Order: sequence, then C-alpha cells, then structure tokens
Amino acid sequence: MLERTRIQQALTTVEIGSTVTVMGWVRTRRDSKAGFSFIEVNDGSCLRNLQVIADRGLKNYQDEVLKIQTGCSVRVTGTLAASPAKGQEKELQAEEIEVLGWSGQDYPLQKKHHSFEFLRSIAHLRPRTNTFGAIARVRNATSMAIHSFFQERGFVYVHTPIITGSDCEGAGELFKVTALDLNHLPARQGEVDFEQDFFGRPANLTVSGQLEAEIYALALGNVYTFGPTFRAERSNTSRHLAEFWMVEPEMAFCDLQGNVDLAVDFLKYVFDYVLEKCLEDLNFFEERIDPGVIKNMESMVSQEFARITYTEAVDILSKAQAEFEFPISWGEDLQSEHERYLCERVFRVPIVITDYPKEIKPFYMKMNDDLRTVRAMDLLVPRVGEIIGGSQREDDYDRLLQRIEESHLDPEDYWWYLDLRKFGTAPHSGFGLGFERLIQLITGMNNIRDVIPFPRTPGNVGF
Ligand code: 4AD
Ligand code: MG
Repeated sequence: MLERTRIQQALTTVEIGSTVTVMGWVRTRRDSKAGFSFIEVNDGSCLRNLQVIADRGLKNYQDEVLKIQTGCSVRVTGTLAASPAKGQEKELQAEEIEVLGWSGQDYPLQKKHHSFEFLRSIAHLRPRTNTFGAIARVRNATSMAIHSFFQERGFVYVHTPIITGSDCEGAGELFKVTALDLNHLPARQGEVDFEQDFFGRPANLTVSGQLEAEIYALALGNVYTFGPTFRAERSNTSRHLAEFWMVEPEMAFCDLQGNVDLAVDFLKYVFDYVLEKCLEDLNFFEERIDPGVIKNMESMVSQEFARITYTEAVDILSKAQAEFEFPISWGEDLQSEHERYLCERVFRVPIVITDYPKEIKPFYMKMNDDLRTVRAMDLLVPRVGEIIGGSQREDDYDRLLQRIEESHLDPEDYWWYLDLRKFGTAPHSGFGLGFERLIQLITGMNNIRDVIPFPRTPGNVGF
C-alpha cells in the first residue's frame, strides 16, 4: 500500500510543520495571478477538503499542475502550514504533486449542485460528492452503533440466510431464486417442476431474518441479525426499497413490554452515538439538507416516547379534526397519513403503537387474551413514519398452527417453526428496524434511494 496520511488526520491531529503525503480526488483548482494555484483535495476520510498550495516553482507546474481538472486523482507531498484563509486552520504547501489519474471536461460532477435525481443516474460517481460521502460515513458509524449496542448487552450476532424456502411475513412479496432456464421451464402436470431446479423446490430471497433468528434466540437467549432483505412490493415511494437492510434482535424470555423498552433504548443509544461520532457530517445535513435534524435527534434522546394501543390510536384518529384520504375504522390498517398525524400533530414525539387487530398482522404474532388483537408493536417517528415493526411471538403450538392455517400458509412449510413450540417453547419477542429509514431520520434525506449506496426499486436494478 502507498504510504499516505488521511486528510481527516492531517486536518486534526497532525501538527503544523509536519511533512505529509496525501492522496485524493481534486474538487477544484484555482490559479492566482501571483503565480500559484489552490487545489482542493478530498479523500473521503472526512467532509472537508484539504487546500493544497501549488507554487509555480514545482517542476511540473506548467506541464501538469495547470492541467489538473476536477475529478483527477493526485498524490501531494508537502508541509502542513497554518492557513491564512477563512474557515480552515491548515493547508498543505506542496513540494511534489503527482497526477495519478487524469480527468476531463466530460467528468459529470462539474457543477457544485447536482439534483439527487441526476446523481442517482451516476451511482458510480455520486459517492465523490459531499452529500453521498457524508451519508456513507453516517451509515458506517450507525452500523457500528448498532453492533456496539447489542454487543454491550450480550446479544450474539447471527448470520441468517439470504436464500430461504419460507415467507416470513406471509405477504407473498418474494423474489424467486432459480437456476432454471426461464425460456425452457421443465413442467409436470402443467406446472413448473421445481424438483429439477437447483434446490429441488421453490426458493426465494428472504424478506426478513426473523424466523431463523427465533431459532437461535431459543438456544442462545438474545441474538440479532443485521443484513439485506428483499421485497418485491411495487411501492414506488420515498420510503420503500426492493433491497434494504434490516436489524432484527430476538430475545428469549422477553414479553412485548421488554421488547418496546429495548427498541426505545436502542434508538436513543444510536442517536447519541452518531451525535458524538459524526458531528461534522451532521452539521452538513443541518445546513444543506434539513435544518433541525440535529435538534430532532437530540430531543428524541431526551424525550419520553409515547405508548398507545391501536384501539386508542383509532379512537384519537376518528375524533380528529382532519381530512384523511383513507377514513379509519377499527380493523383497518393505519396508513402513513394516520401515522404522521399521530406523530407530528398529536404527540409530537416518537410513538409506539401496540396490540393491533390480528387480521392486519402476520401469523407469528402472539394472540392477546381477547382473541382479536395480537402483541404487535410499531414504532413511528416524525417525518419518516414506521421505522420499527415487531412483536411478541406466538409460543403456543395450537394457536400458531391455527394462525398459519388462517393465513393460508402451508403448515408443512413451517414444521420446523412449529417444532420450536413443541420442544421447550418459551415466551420470546423481537423487532425489525429498517436501516435506511433510520438513516433518513438521521440525515434528513427525503428519498430512501439516496441513503443506500445502490438503490434497487421497481424498474431499477442499477448496472
Ligand atoms: O414491519 P416489517 O415488515 O417487520 C418484519 O419484517 C419483521 N419480521 C421484523 C421482526 O419482527 N424481526 O419490517 C420491519 C421494518 C419496517 O418497520 C421498516 O422500517 C423496514 O423494515 N421496511 C422497509 N424499509 C425499506 N423498504 C421497504 N420496502 C421496507 N419494508 C419494511
Ligand atoms: Mg411493519
């Protein structure tokens, strides 16, 4: 590896007067009449650029330095000096500049401000912008926060499979996985013969690691999985992706209350962590994307979250002085307009809604004694809406079997899941946090397509 100092270090811990070598990509070059040039270099280690002063005395000044354009990659060795310029403490007085990779007028990132829509069309270059560099660093820090929260509490990180034979949510929004030749499908009695397929039966990409996480929770106690999940739902909204990341803790010997408590502590911990680790990037989002994001996070750390039942929520909504596109009545699922109304107008803090009607929730949620509602929980936050969904799990064999049948699923597909209720069943609970929705909340980014490096949505699989 080539020896280099990261710009983040050069700007913070490295002392003025030191000789350093930095490598990065040129953002801009300006030439002064006095016979030297300013070159702004960014290496992605932090938001800020390092300003390089290139004097005409450099041996390649005329032939190369004056040809440097936006997008070039460079290696610069020089002395860190106190900067006379406003807004920066240090600059680099170049003793040697080497162009590692040239760029040209056709480099797409010429303007200072490109639309996010345009940037989505150049996903291979957009991480070189301030916004997408900052998002990548925030995603990184948030991932670390998630791992450290669970690790500090003794949760075991379990890698659940991406290819599965089951449909956790029972919603049928599955991407199929096959090695069959789609133009020549083997048939048997008028249907595709999956026995000839790679796995000998239909397979799909997972919509959630929950069911497998339950297996491990009922052996190891507290576990979590954190990985990609896939949903073939045709929701073309600013909050849905076909491929997104989900964090799913699962706890044995834990009821719904304990589950809600963990979710609240978890979010607060993550906000606290990013506020501490990513302040420079967060200030950028505050100034350029969404004034208020920092304060919003700080207040979520200190506020009590509201806790209400679905029945109470419907009660509030049906008395509300508001025009809803979808009228609400008991038994209907809450639409995002209802969730936002509760969060942004009524409570003005994050809300946990529990105990939904069983018909609108998946088969695995534990039935309440009223036999009408299940021990579900959704955690809603202002602006983003539902960020977490979870429940206590049905741990009674007969009731689970009944719910599988009522949901028109085949009990034979879930024999192993039923087994867990036959051998040493135990109360257990868990939830799933949509990682990209969390990043939207942290950064204030409006569209979920812009908080994941390579968004996959209906009609868009990228390169
Ligand atoms: O509410 P969901 O569907 O819950 C589950 O999948 C459970 N199996 C989780 C569990 O209990 N272990 O999804 C959980 C979260 C949602 O609250 C939302 O934040 C996010 O995943 N999510 C999506 N994010 C982006 N794009 C989509 N299409 C999403 N669908 C769900
Ligand atoms: Mg949900």
